[in-house]
Amino acid sequence: MLKSKILFKISGSIAAYKSAYLISKLVQNGFDVQTVVTTSSLHFIGKATLEGLTGKPVLIDQYEDGKMMSHINLMKWADLIILCPASANTINKMANGIADNLVTSLFLAHSWDKPYLIAPAMNTAMYKHPATQESLKRLKDWGVDILPTDSGHLACGDIGEGKLFDPDHIYDHIVDVLNNQNGNSDSKKSILITAGATRESIDGVRFITNLSTGNTAATIADHLSSKGYKVTYLHGINTLLPNNKTNNIQYRDFQNFKETLNELLESNYYDSVIHLAAISDYTVDKIKSEELALSGSGKSKLDSELSNLTINLKPTSKIVDKIKSISKNKDVVLFAFKFSGSSSLDESKKEVGKLLKHSNADFVVLNHLQDRTKDGIQTNYYIFNKSALLKNVENSTQLAIEIEQIIKV
Ligand SMILES: Cc1cc2nc3c(=O)[nH]c(=O)nc-3n(C[C@H](O)[C@H](O)[C@H](O)COP(=O)(O)O)c2cc1C
Repeated sequence: MLKSKILFKISGSIAAYKSAYLISKLVQNGFDVQTVVTTSSLHFIGKATLEGLTGKPVLIDQYEDGKMMSHINLMKWADLIILCPASANTINKMANGIADNLVTSLFLAHSWDKPYLIAPAMNTAMYKHPATQESLKRLKDWGVDILPTDSGHLACGDIGEGKLFDPDHIYDHIVDVLNNQNGNSDSKKSILITAGATRESIDGVRFITNLSTGNTAATIADHLSSKGYKVTYLHGINTLLPNNKTNNIQYRDFQNFKETLNELLESNYYDSVIHLAAISDYTVDKIKSEELALSGSGKSKLDSELSNLTINLKPTSKIVDKIKSISKNKDVVLFAFKFSGSSSLDESKKEVGKLLKHSNADFVVLNHLQDRTKDGIQTNYYIFNKSALLKNVENSTQLAIEIEQIIKV
């Protein structure tokens, strides 16, 4: 991995100064770095800094005398390309095939066998803008590795998403990507992630379900898969799927989930199970109404005009309690999740304690109903091990990073 060649692109974001730190760390660790910048970025970082750090002239102009074609050879030279920081303007141009400067022209000439990383940095409104979100999605679909952004204080004074991902984490990611690329990955661990919600049928068209979307699970699956883990994703109907390549298996209801999970655990060796699926605590036992008793109806859709329809529910068993004992790998690292309706952290900590005890989980991630946005996005996760609260993180991306740090050991 030493002496890997990095084509380091910079566009016009106020976070450009942070690229100097990252470039310096790359150079100090033996990487060969060539910078390519947009003219706007030079309002935020000086050529002298970049040339001083890399020992190479900064490339800006695609029409530089005597070098017009050699720039294209940069693509052949590089082992990995990163755009950091990536401005909203450059992201949107790239996603639309616009090539009006050296940074964007080189992207159009990109060879897709090489990793292309993008680290966005902008204020929250620019980041959330549908144009930017659609562009990021399009670039991701094409195979670009889009790094998450951090939440926090932004240069404009706002607090929110869009802050450049921590440069030390970007550095780690570059190293991981190159290791995977070179087949040196020591992190080919197998992970089973359960996601989404069960559907307990009332009749052929109606069911009982819950709020789980799969958003947190898909973020964790994407992160682990980008780090080289083999991820099996056991998901409900309509659950959000990861963007990265994972082995996706669908379940329907409690019974079907239980059977599929048991089969997977018995026949495969998983290093870790991350059990996020919201499995129904109850399933439909009996449905009663006077009319049904009279007609003896076995119809696949209950009539809409029945009076006094009674649905009896019976409790299901606690699947999480069986994961360790069923698992082929008896040392499997189990993450259980506790979604608490309580508004008191002390109360929910007690629930965590109980879960740790009866499931024998190694870690429990606690989240609260009150920390769910109106769009169904969960925020604020607390990670516990058997004896203490280890960490509180703001969002699912940070949670994914923390989980990876735990399981990579
Ligand atoms: C002080 C200042 C800070 C800026 N910070 C950002 C930023 O963090 N992210 C971003 O996308 N654009 C930012 N912009 C706007 C871009 O610099 C502008 O869209 C520019 O055209 C980007 O050009 P480029 O994509 O070719 O580098 C900022 C502009 C100013 C004046």
